[in-house]
Amino acid sequence: MFKIGNLEIKSNVVLAPMAGITSSAYRKFCASFGVGYVVTEMVSDMGLIYGNKETKSYVTFEKLDVPTGVQLFGNSAENLAKAALICEKLNENIDFYDINMGCPVPKVTKTGAGSSLMNNPTLCGDIVRAIKEATHKPVTVKIRLGAANSKDQFLKVIDETIKAGVDLIAIHPRSAKEMYGGKPHWELIENLKERVNVPLIISGNIFTVEDAVEALKITGADGVMVARGGMGNPLLITNINNYFNDKELSEPNLDKQIDYCLQLARLLIEEKGEAIGMRVYRSIASKFFDGFPKSKPLKCRLSTELNSYNDLLRIIEDYKKEIVI
Ligand SMILES: Cc1cc2nc3c(=O)[nH]c(=O)nc-3n(C[C@H](O)[C@H](O)[C@H](O)COP(=O)(O)O)c2cc1C
Repeated sequence: MFKIGNLEIKSNVVLAPMAGITSSAYRKFCASFGVGYVVTEMVSDMGLIYGNKETKSYVTFEKLDVPTGVQLFGNSAENLAKAALICEKLNENIDFYDINMGCPVPKVTKTGAGSSLMNNPTLCGDIVRAIKEATHKPVTVKIRLGAANSKDQFLKVIDETIKAGVDLIAIHPRSAKEMYGGKPHWELIENLKERVNVPLIISGNIFTVEDAVEALKITGADGVMVARGGMGNPLLITNINNYFNDKELSEPNLDKQIDYCLQLARLLIEEKGEAIGMRVYRSIASKFFDGFPKSKPLKCRLSTELNSYNDLLRIIEDYKKEIVI
């Protein structure tokens, strides 16, 4: 389909990095639905440099059937390259590095990292160069529009990172101020691919197959990134792939959704242990039941009562009894 450096990416649907969500269990789960590559949650360069145990756990994972990128965040080319070198020593399964140039959260931006990097396009290029030189691995960037809804800033960042040899650009066309709300500004990235001679991926409100088709049509991009839309709806990934491969789309139904929900629960337990895994799952499990009849109490219980796999089974059984009445 397209390449990141010399890595073959076989699907034009990829998994977005999401802090608190895209741990190795979630990545493995989505890989089985056909994403072309996956990216870790964002990882702090300074956390790695200081040897923080939790930070290190984010970059140690097993090999999947699809390439895995580690997403780093930080504010200096030197430290980000140092952090990437630490990753190289910690894990030989890292296929590429992705640099977070889009995070709008004040805790990150006030340090000069995340979307603040876009205020300095030269620095964005220097970061790409430094990590490529240090690791000899492909480097991708994930950007936003920048501080405001104008073309100026993100086009400069695109130009500088391309000059520095970036291997793929993912863009989420919202400004930092807009966080995740409102509609992405498709009008600002119309035909963007004409200007980008490396693979271009689009992120932002990909909730349906139609959203993916529209985003690719407007921008000419190589692929779409599934984020919130895939949470609880992994068939979205399969269906976008099926659409582009002229295959029939699969409709989610309750039995399938329960099966997927339990699959991901087991992967999270394998990864984090039952107590932590099920706590983390409170923010994800209920999404598998969006739109199903009488699912409000079920969703509420999953978000508040989930402490064990047996809780999950029991809450789902109760729901099944409830809907046949
Ligand atoms: C809970 C959550 C965590 C996120 N964490 C990250 C992150 O660590 N790194 C990153 O580049 N983007 C992160 N994002 C942004 C997503 O990758 C994506 O660009 C954004 O959600 C827009 O896509 P959507 O509208 O389809 O959800 C996060 C988004 C959400 C909702």
